[in-house]
Amino acid sequence: MNATARVLPFPGPGGTAAVLTGLGAWVPPRVLSNAEIASRLDTSDEWIRARTGIHQRHIVDPGMSTSDLAVEAGQRALKSADTDRVDALVLATTTPDRPCPATAPDVAYRMGLERCAAYDVNAVCTGFLYGLASGAGLIAAGVAEQVLVIGADTFSTILDPDCRNTAAIFGDGAGAVVLRAGSAHEPGALGPFDLGSDGRDADLIMVPSGGSRQRSTVTPAPAGSEYFTMAGKAVFRKAIFQMAGSAQAVLRKAGIGLHDVDRFVIHQANVRIINGVADMLGVPVGRFVRNIDRFGNTAAASVPLALTSATESGELRAGQRVLLGAFGGGLTWGSTVLRWPDIEAM
Ligand code: UT7
Repeated sequence: MNATARVLPFPGPGGTAAVLTGLGAWVPPRVLSNAEIASRLDTSDEWIRARTGIHQRHIVDPGMSTSDLAVEAGQRALKSADTDRVDALVLATTTPDRPCPATAPDVAYRMGLERCAAYDVNAVCTGFLYGLASGAGLIAAGVAEQVLVIGADTFSTILDPDCRNTAAIFGDGAGAVVLRAGSAHEPGALGPFDLGSDGRDADLIMVPSGGSRQRSTVTPAPAGSEYFTMAGKAVFRKAIFQMAGSAQAVLRKAGIGLHDVDRFVIHQANVRIINGVADMLGVPVGRFVRNIDRFGNTAAASVPLALTSATESGELRAGQRVLLGAFGGGLTWGSTVLRWPDIEAM
């Protein structure tokens, strides 16, 4: 059975929906231009712009880690929601501060959210969508009334400095939303969700060592195996196919059509992937939010960062129907829809 074929009831049996009430994002100040990458690798500003749509990205300086970005974005989202209390913090990341323990409890502690439930979710670039579904699930199950969902990644810390295939694409950043228990009819109510995975292609996007398969206590890890690797061409086609399929699946569940969606906010992996999804769906690309030129691919931060950019610019306005979608390592993909609430992004 296809991983995305099962229709889950939404909202939960109790009828409680998760409503988005706050949004914030943060990127580290250091800007890395294409020209700077081209000065040390066999690439060019023209190639990167033409093949990816990326003009620059932000990266952390040594000493700054994923939790630092997550705290900044989380604080902004709480301010946007005008609250200082949550029952749970879900951190979507593939670049935790350490392999163990999870980074979320440290983020919660540093934000003054002591004693709240806090855990990490790893679905690579789909992490924020999985995090949203996880937060919405906590609310639907009555486990939490208010949840902070953060997507934060520092891929610059795991890239091979000599690999032009990945160095040009990824940037660092964080974005966050606050969810609270409410009704499915309110603006900001999330759902339904479509989530899926295909572990047959786990090797297409990976960090080979550092886990239990490559045991550092038995065999020293091969040189370079701690770096992130991606089979770009294979991933490119699958990203378009799965994000378009997931968008159609979630709209079927919601009982609405593509023409009912005012804005598509999907993972900013490559501007040609966004164009490809628009083409495959037959939707004008002007309805797709894009900020990849300024930030590159920020993995789990990509969707909330794009939401923040689009809210600040006025491209995303209260009352519009928005489809969120992502695709990433695992392989994983996911989508949800909501009516955009009247909020100020921070
Ligand atoms: O976030 C998770 C999902 N991630 C993605 O969805 C990323 C998906 N993949 C991509 O965005 C694209 O595949 C890339 C941007 C990674 C590569 O672009 P492409 O147009 O698919 O290039 P390609 O892989 O087909 O490579 C074409 C050529 C190759 O050279 P040869 O073998 O034809 O001589 C590459 O080595 O382009 C070369 N190339 C580069 N050249 C200059 C790859 N990266 C670069 C570079 N600068 N940075």
